Amino acid sequence: MAKLNFDLQHTDTLSRARTGKITTDHGEILTPIFMPVGTVGSVKAVNQQQLTNIVQAQIILGNTYHLYLRPGIQVLEQAGGLHKFNGWQKPILTDSGGYQVFSLAGTRKIKEEGVYFQSHIDGSRHLFSPEKVMDIQRSIGADIIMAFDECPHAGCEYVYARKSMELTHRWLDRCLARLAETEGRYGHTQNLFPIVQGSTFKDLRIASAQYIASKNAAGNAIGGLSVGETEEEMYAFTALSCEYLPADKPRYLMGVGTPWNILEGISLGVDMFDCVMPTRNARNGMLFTTQGVMNMKNKKWANDFSAIDAGFENEISNYYSKAYLRHLFVSGELLAGQLASLHNLSFYLWLVKEARRHIIAGDFTSWKQEMVQRLKIRM
Ligand code: GUN
Repeated sequence: MAKLNFDLQHTDTLSRARTGKITTDHGEILTPIFMPVGTVGSVKAVNQQQLTNIVQAQIILGNTYHLYLRPGIQVLEQAGGLHKFNGWQKPILTDSGGYQVFSLAGTRKIKEEGVYFQSHIDGSRHLFSPEKVMDIQRSIGADIIMAFDECPHAGCEYVYARKSMELTHRWLDRCLARLAETEGRYGHTQNLFPIVQGSTFKDLRIASAQYIASKNAAGNAIGGLSVGETEEEMYAFTALSCEYLPADKPRYLMGVGTPWNILEGISLGVDMFDCVMPTRNARNGMLFTTQGVMNMKNKKWANDFSAIDAGFENEISNYYSKAYLRHLFVSGELLAGQLASLHNLSFYLWLVKEARRHIIAGDFTSWKQEMVQRLKIRM
């Protein structure tokens, strides 16, 4: 089976935006792309058929930390990997768990060998080392697997950020060594993406991007952003990281973001995005639409029988009314979270598809500027 391939197709002349095609053993991904997050092997409130037919997702995420704790490696191996276990036959990416264990502040200890942490489920103690995390990701069997990194919080001191970045680089070498001495279990190729860190310090970001680029991986990720810095800083450090990462490999900006963050990221040269925002906010009644941001619980929608969003073709967003969806939220119905999640994810996938279309048409920048203004409107 073949290593991941990236076919760069169009490069915009007025920005760094580009379109491309990633080929994995589980199929193709057109970029720029948004990847719905399925932390425990399930995109919350949305099933795999809906992801394919309604959302038109091309790749979903899973998380090493959560899948390791539950259902556990043994079940995943017995199933024949996550694709067989959850029935999603298209590409899967797993995050390494680095980000999740670091957010367990108070119950984790970072050492050279790895991170000691306590399970959020039962308090049991575990060690995630780079080797262990590679072994777990072998058992899960995602097409794209992430290096084990440390993601420091925004505003950390320079000395901390430097030490943390150096540790992430040493861990990357251990990840690569472990992968070189092991094989995928299920007959398809797994591709490691290393992660740029360096917080919001220019020299560290550049050093990290250069180090990551030198590994000649199939794709590269930008981490440590959207962790409390300003939006301007996030864009500036995304741009800087992109500048030092190879143009002929996909670039993945981790954990970002709002629809306008994604459009700005695309214009800076990012190809892949993931975020819990469309699903998490949906469950809280917040909708991203072609006309702006809506709080579905607001009384102003009580008698509005127009479609949730008529601005793009979608069987959920065009079919149900704002008034009905508001009623479902106010009544605490489970269907509210499902319809809202289906809408938000479909909207995100529509948005990146439109971005691809405008990059190819050559009017991406003017379209993006107008969209960014429109999408931020509070309706
Ligand atoms: N998700 C969002 N940001 C990060 C990051 O910096 N590292 C990892 N592993 N996952 C992330």
